[in-house]
Amino acid sequence: MDKLPYQFHDDQREIRFDRFDLPSPWINYLSNGRLHAFVSQAGGGMCWWLSPMMFRVSRYRFYNMPIDSPGFYVYIRMADGTVWSPTFHPSETPVDLREAAHAPGYSAFTAKKGGLTATLKLFMAQDVDALVWDLKLTNERGEEISCDVYAYVELSQYLAREENILGYYLKWNTRAVFDEDLQAITYAYTAWMHPRKDESPLVTFASDAKIDSFCCNRDVFCGNYRDESNPVQVQNGRLSNTNLQGGEPCGALHTSVSLRAGEETQVHFFLGVTEGALSGYDKAVASAKDTLTALRKDGAVDRQFAKLQSWWKEHLVVYQCDIPDAEAQRMINTWNPLQSVQTARYSRSISSDASGVRGIGFRDTAQDMLAQAYRKPEWATEMLCYLASQQLEDGHAVHTAWPEEKRPPQDITRSDDHIWMVYLAYAIAAETGDLRFLDKEIPFLGTDLVTSAGSATLWEHLLRGVDFTEKHLGEHGLPLILFSDWNDHLGPFGRKGKGESVMVSQQHILALRQLAALAEARGERADQFRTLMEKQEKALEQTAWDGAWFLRGLDDEAKPIGTHTQEHARIWLNAQSWMVIADACKEHQIEAMDSAARELDTGMGLLLNTPGYPGWPSKEAAMVNGLPAGYSENGGVFCQANCWAIMAEALLGRGNRAWKYYKQIMPNEVIKKVGVERYHAEAYAYCSTMLGKDNEKFGWGCVSQVTGTAAWMDVVATQYLLGIRPTLKGLLIDPSIPAEWDGFTVERTYRGCALTIKVENPDHVQHGVREMTVNGNPLDLTHGAVIREAVLSGRDGTDVEVLMG
Ligand code: GLC
Repeated sequence: MDKLPYQFHDDQREIRFDRFDLPSPWINYLSNGRLHAFVSQAGGGMCWWLSPMMFRVSRYRFYNMPIDSPGFYVYIRMADGTVWSPTFHPSETPVDLREAAHAPGYSAFTAKKGGLTATLKLFMAQDVDALVWDLKLTNERGEEISCDVYAYVELSQYLAREENILGYYLKWNTRAVFDEDLQAITYAYTAWMHPRKDESPLVTFASDAKIDSFCCNRDVFCGNYRDESNPVQVQNGRLSNTNLQGGEPCGALHTSVSLRAGEETQVHFFLGVTEGALSGYDKAVASAKDTLTALRKDGAVDRQFAKLQSWWKEHLVVYQCDIPDAEAQRMINTWNPLQSVQTARYSRSISSDASGVRGIGFRDTAQDMLAQAYRKPEWATEMLCYLASQQLEDGHAVHTAWPEEKRPPQDITRSDDHIWMVYLAYAIAAETGDLRFLDKEIPFLGTDLVTSAGSATLWEHLLRGVDFTEKHLGEHGLPLILFSDWNDHLGPFGRKGKGESVMVSQQHILALRQLAALAEARGERADQFRTLMEKQEKALEQTAWDGAWFLRGLDDEAKPIGTHTQEHARIWLNAQSWMVIADACKEHQIEAMDSAARELDTGMGLLLNTPGYPGWPSKEAAMVNGLPAGYSENGGVFCQANCWAIMAEALLGRGNRAWKYYKQIMPNEVIKKVGVERYHAEAYAYCSTMLGKDNEKFGWGCVSQVTGTAAWMDVVATQYLLGIRPTLKGLLIDPSIPAEWDGFTVERTYRGCALTIKVENPDHVQHGVREMTVNGNPLDLTHGAVIREAVLSGRDGTDVEVLMG
């Protein structure tokens, strides 16, 4: 195995690169919750405000070559005309040393040439909407260095789709000019057809250094048939002071720097936005001026950086573990919760792969927020209330919504979307112990998908979901597949409207179980939920068992999906794992999970189903919407579904196997096996899928960053493997660990109390808690190892000691 082109520095929560031409951009997100960007290890990246579809600030060329361009570029021109960059791109001039690092909230790039060291740190200011380019220059040569510094960003026409299709007309509406008073380039996309033109921002690109020249025209800056790697104006040494009224806009600023021997200086650039360029230009300019004045103050940049760091510190401190597995510890403590924040913010919409127009998936966001329910329950609650407002009166939910874009949602009825809301509601209640959010009045969405139709409490919304599922059961009593269930590609089995889904049945059971618990906690009756659960379980018992595993469902002709006699897709993972998660059909659970291990475990992830259907032009390809074998839902390793298998094994108490499954799809572990070129994607963020063994590129990671794997891995690792799990009754301690572990420690803030949970495993078991003390007092374990809120209240720093066995 070649040396890995990066290392993790866990104390600083950094990944540092020592190779930059990776097979794909490995990105980091920078954000303050309103203004967002991603940046790669090579300096490529994109910035957007509120929505990457509506208010795209800078450009990025998705799917095209050269990959990963443009970005946030700095050029340094030495007195002899040599031009280089602190990032690997755009300038390809060799440097004496190069480094790059990603960490929660910032990325830092260092290069050294001819005795000059340049470090560019990129992060989002927290109090104002500006991407800060914090450039530090150090003269390590024994004599004075004079150089010219240029910062460059290509600007976008805000509306991503329209820009792609109609940019040749819409570019008449770009205006970028240098504003003497602000000492900044101001940019606005002025087309009247912007659906939210009143909010359209004024973009500013500024510095706290003296500006010596500027350019607002990309094509003039680069020169004919050139690109960002060697812009003619940087080569010439001076920018042309060109404003732009129509055309391809950019922000390019130039400042000259002189450094005495040993001297160090900082130059900051700010790519910022101010709301309302078109609705009140003067006001927007005035507010941009305030922002810039604030950012140009001494120490302002450092204060913003400190504020950003405390945001992450507070976010991460809620759950930190110390375990005998450095790889897993790194993911659990830093990179997984980091990715969970990204999916909570961006759903499946934006990454260096995902072009930013997809809005938020209903089921996706409901699942993403599970990882916020235990760290930021207010945020999870806000999103849950929003999701409920996208549910129709009959109880089903839309599939995709565009809250920031204020576009009508897409409604092609899936059988599962609405169900995921229940789990999120339960998770929030289990974290906070406060059920009042369930009484919030929330409107339903009208059938026109625009207006709202009456309102009801959130609780009632959840019950309507149950009604919907109950009213859409098939002939065998299982929920209909409808357009699809969680498996987007299951739809073809149920196109005639009769196919039934085992997974939705299992999901329904879990939802009913959680609703029963919530009802009781609300002081209400729960027997109606139990009756439905029993009915659903009976239906599963009668239809779902195939002899060695559970069927995935029944198709329109009532033929089994996922049965041993089938040539393709004869066993499906979710039907096995979800039976355990739903706690149904108990007698076959173990055998089903053992079959999954035997049939689906590749040693590098469990396949979603196997064998894959042959690809097009085979007749069967239609069953999987033409996906080639090994891809995604056709015999691929679907990472999110692996999370549920891990969870199921943990629930069964089989810690060894649960950890094997967990470790084997950790990106850094896969890379160690197949190498960076094959895996392709980030070593610190999960992918949606990896190609399965039916495919010659087995192990290739697809769609990284924006995937449900993030939240589920996060929840599974913290709450099911380490087993520190919020429940309505309190914090349950239920670890499933490798038998070889001696123990581990978790620091967890729960219901306002900081707990230190020390778990010891002297008998080397995989599961089971024998004794437990809270602040030295033994806990009665008759009703489970649950730390009730009453034991915590008023105490700061609760110590919990757990003895497994
Ligand atoms: C993608 C979709 C998700 C779906 C999954 C499986 O991750 O975003 O909604 O459930 O694929 O089809």
